[in-house]
Amino acid sequence: MSAPLGNLSVEQFLNRCWQKEPCLIRRAFDDFEPLLDGNDLAGLACEEMVESRLVRGSMEKSDWTVGYGPFDDSVFSSLGEENWTLLVQDVEKHYAPLQALMAEFSFIPNWRLDDLMISFAATGGSVGPHTDQYDVFLLQAEGRRRWQIASSFEPELLRDCPLNVLQRFTPEQEWVLEPGDMLYLPPNVAHHGIALEPGMTWSIGSRAPSGADLLQGLGEWLSFSADEGGRYSDPDLRPAKRAGEMDAEALRKLRQLMLARIDESDNVDSFLAAFMSRFRLAHEPAPPPKPIRSKDLHAAIQNGAQLLCNPWTRLTWINTPQGARLFAAGQAFDCSTSLAEILCQRDQPAIEVAMLDKPTLDTLTKLINKGHMLLTSDA
Ligand code: SIN
Ligand code: CO
Repeated sequence: MSAPLGNLSVEQFLNRCWQKEPCLIRRAFDDFEPLLDGNDLAGLACEEMVESRLVRGSMEKSDWTVGYGPFDDSVFSSLGEENWTLLVQDVEKHYAPLQALMAEFSFIPNWRLDDLMISFAATGGSVGPHTDQYDVFLLQAEGRRRWQIASSFEPELLRDCPLNVLQRFTPEQEWVLEPGDMLYLPPNVAHHGIALEPGMTWSIGSRAPSGADLLQGLGEWLSFSADEGGRYSDPDLRPAKRAGEMDAEALRKLRQLMLARIDESDNVDSFLAAFMSRFRLAHEPAPPPKPIRSKDLHAAIQNGAQLLCNPWTRLTWINTPQGARLFAAGQAFDCSTSLAEILCQRDQPAIEVAMLDKPTLDTLTKLINKGHMLLTSDA
């Protein structure tokens, strides 16, 4: 498998660096030509559907401010020449040709990748020294940026600051990245990028749900089910010893009841895959889907069904005794593992479900806006 890892093979990178230590890859992309520029990014940041931030300030003055998009384009003419950075999330979803860049990182399982965030910084532009909870590949796309990093640092953040900026930061290593160079950082390595001239850094970021995210999602998922998972029972109850106390045995049994509900059946695997197949900002609780059956999926595909693309949809699948259960934006399809694999290999995530005979444009638009992948026979 070829990957933009310089002299490192994928195995060497994963064994030595991934989640372990920073890694600088000079000329990861030879003659890198960015498919969009600062003006394109500013245009995106003016759009309603786009998540963007404008950070101003410098480390010397600790005068950080942050504004959130959508912006009026007049903002950009008032920014001046120095000390600002415009950051836009999910750019590959807004501009489909960038999916090809994401495909370069397919040595990481697709459900572990999140988005392409692009920052355009004026000279001196920076978001301050900070840490992230995610692995990130920082690809220098235009201009030069100095990156300083430290694996040991004091975690205190600046007070009364709208950004998470470390109070103190002593770099252990630093490099100037030129276009095509890439710096990989595992989570929790402090880093500070400062633009030496106007330019862009493209961050290919990973997705790592927290236990709390998963539990919240699982609770919502289970709440749609009629199966309560049994009730607490205590046929061996003894007289209460101390008023109000929940004793150790009661706590053990309650915990057991809860864990058994989580553990039972294959439901949890389906929950996990459905959860990861949704866009990270899809916060609406989603009920467990009714999987579309393998034979219906095959029949639809044989009848010329098309997969329409909605880049917010993420495709992922799990192995089941019958084959694969494929998830797309929280919807489920049963199919063969080979079909699941083929569908997931597409450059652009294909979209969802709903086998509609004669979908109207209105129905399609509504489904797509909901982040669904659309499998139709005549779209
Ligand atoms: C930036 O592009 O300036 C910030 C990216 C990061 O630090 O994660
Ligand atoms: Co960062």
